[in-house]
Amino acid sequence: MRVRGTLRVPGDKSISHRALMLSALATGESRVSGLLLSADVRSTASVLRALGVAIPEVTDAEFRIAGVGLRGLRAAPPLDCGNSGTTARLMSGVLAASPFASLLVGDASLSRRPMRRVARPLEAMGATFEFASGDGLPMTIHGGALRGVTWRGETASAQVKSAILLAGLVADVPVEVHEISATRDHTERMLRGRGVDVRTEGLAVTLLPTGRLDAADTDVPGDPSSAAFFAALAAMAAGGDIEITNVCTNPSRAGAFAVLARMGATVRLEDVRDAAGEPVATLVVSPRQLAGTVIEPSEIPSLIDELPVLACVAARAAGETRVTGAAELRVKESDRISAIVQNLRAVGADAEELPDGFVVRGSDRPLKGAVTTHGDHRIAMAFGVLGALDGNAIVVDDPDCVAVSYPAFWSDLARVIR
Ligand code: S3P
Repeated sequence: MRVRGTLRVPGDKSISHRALMLSALATGESRVSGLLLSADVRSTASVLRALGVAIPEVTDAEFRIAGVGLRGLRAAPPLDCGNSGTTARLMSGVLAASPFASLLVGDASLSRRPMRRVARPLEAMGATFEFASGDGLPMTIHGGALRGVTWRGETASAQVKSAILLAGLVADVPVEVHEISATRDHTERMLRGRGVDVRTEGLAVTLLPTGRLDAADTDVPGDPSSAAFFAALAAMAAGGDIEITNVCTNPSRAGAFAVLARMGATVRLEDVRDAAGEPVATLVVSPRQLAGTVIEPSEIPSLIDELPVLACVAARAAGETRVTGAAELRVKESDRISAIVQNLRAVGADAEELPDGFVVRGSDRPLKGAVTTHGDHRIAMAFGVLGALDGNAIVVDDPDCVAVSYPAFWSDLARVIR
């Protein structure tokens, strides 16, 4: 199978969520273009709509939002976050600082994911959280006036960091977050772009109260996590190349491209520029002989969502690929360590679970069989890419689950294969 073509992947999911939330909380009208039109982003839009923000239906990547201001949200019936961890966790920060009670609910997968990691720092700021059971949704947040906090992160999580920053913003109190390793910094960049005093020094991020959030225009760049599927496909193809335009290449998100290059693929960045505070480039990827690699714990936050597709590339690379320091994969949309390893084995690849990662030994034998996604979009797309290679025949049980982040994935895949 050869690849060819130019692709523009959908808008970045992390930035799309934040563009909606920050536009909703700003004073004045913001314009958003390039928004990701997906189920997860619709979850954020509908939660904000329920809280009183006039957000249009997410059917058009370009629209305007009239912000209600930092104190403008009003109490709402249960807020359905669907499958979206980013909606639930970032909105927890906003709601913890809002003077009413909110009940957050989600689908079966989201309801199994840990929420106390956001509740703990927000409780330290003065909010109260009630869990129906265990650590997940449904969860009630009793919000109100908060005090500042200095929080030392227990896990590397941009969602937890962002929840604390948003709580500090809405409550107008100083917050300081010390991360254990640097995670994606879109919230910091976007807050700065809207006039908020946010400082980063090493692994410490500080927000100082400014009592304001300006309206701004956001041109959402393409999602590197979506681009990674096509970069991986091109790396494994028999020939040709794929050009992916307008990809966000923020260093806190670009680890997978460095790993593909280290495994042997040709990865070129062209037309590098800055768009709305984020580095953006055209990515050109073509195949070469691939070799296994070691992915170090320090690299994990920059490629956490790309590990399913990197594991599939490892199944086609000579020798062993070893990933450690990635225990967070167990609490994503599925237990991704188990999903990756079980599914690689189900199609005939050699893979082994570690408590905090996995080992894959690559081969060029045909990979055939059925894959269980557990409703996890990134598992579906990773194995979709592997299944597109010559000689492989892989059936994905739930192809439609890609709708949460990349609804046009299967048609884009068909378009670049020759
Ligand atoms: C995200 C942060 C990451 C990532 C998720 C999106 C964000 O989660 O896996 O897909 O938008 O902040 P964690 O913060 O749990 O690591």
